[in-house]
Amino acid sequence: MGKKIKFIVWLLLMALSGLGTVHAQDDDFAAGKAKSKLCQQCHGEDGNSINPFCPNLAGQNPAYLEKQIRDFQARVRVDPIMTGVSQSVISDQDVKDIAAYFGSRKRMAGYNANKIGQLIFREGKPESGLDSCASCHGENGRGKQDDAVAFPVLGGQTRDYVIKQLRDMRSGARHNDPAGMMGDIAKKLSDAEISALADYISEL
Ligand code: HEC
Ligand code: HEC
Repeated sequence: MGKKIKFIVWLLLMALSGLGTVHAQDDDFAAGKAKSKLCQQCHGEDGNSINPFCPNLAGQNPAYLEKQIRDFQARVRVDPIMTGVSQSVISDQDVKDIAAYFGSRKRMAGYNANKIGQLIFREGKPESGLDSCASCHGENGRGKQDDAVAFPVLGGQTRDYVIKQLRDMRSGARHNDPAGMMGDIAKKLSDAEISALADYISEL
């Protein structure tokens, strides 16, 4: 009888501690998502980087991420961006939560340049006052039939051609666009963004 009760108590304890862990993980996750807003600007909302110079954090071992954040903070690992940014993570719990959040996300293969191309194509860059490419070139770059003289089809265009046009329009070497529309747009694009857009457009 005594043994049986002990066994039941043990079972209950196991079940409770199990529930406890699940809860703790959920909390870390939600907290980490909220606390990592700044980090998401470079490492992507889900830890899949939207910048070729920033590593993917998604799917990384949380313990490794924690160590790297602490190493940046302590300047054991030095990087012009991360040394400063890491100081914004203050408590040990924040380090853990952020690492838990990114670590739990699914990693996409490598740096997917298309992601940034797709983002600019569909949504523009509101922070630099850049409209989406789709607003003029149509969804999926199909062009605009109602104003077909002005707004060319882009989807499926060859990659290097698109890169050259955007660079030429940025420098002004090509300036036959009505009201300088494309020149203004191209001036707001970096080389990395141009090639990401070209990758994306050529596969539409
Ligand atoms: C302005 C862009 C930017 C922001 C914001 C940013 N990072 Fe980074 N992060 C980088 C870059 C660039 C590197 C690569 C550093 C290098 O080359 O060593 C990096 C590297 C890292 C690494 C190392 C990854 C590895 O595989 O070793 C971790 C971890 C990391 N960042 C976490 C964070 C966290 C946490 C935040 C938010 C507090 C953050 N980063 C915010 C740009 C950024
Ligand atoms: C405000 C409207 C507008 C927006 C937004 C816009 N474009 Fe354009 N784009 C044009 C017009 C108009 C032309 C045609 C220029 C001409 O007549 O030579 C053009 C031409 C182009 C061309 C040359 C096509 C060819 O076949 O030679 C490329 C490439 C291009 N745009 C890419 C983009 C990309 C990438 C974006 C988003 C970053 C974008 N455009 C956003 C209006 C726009």
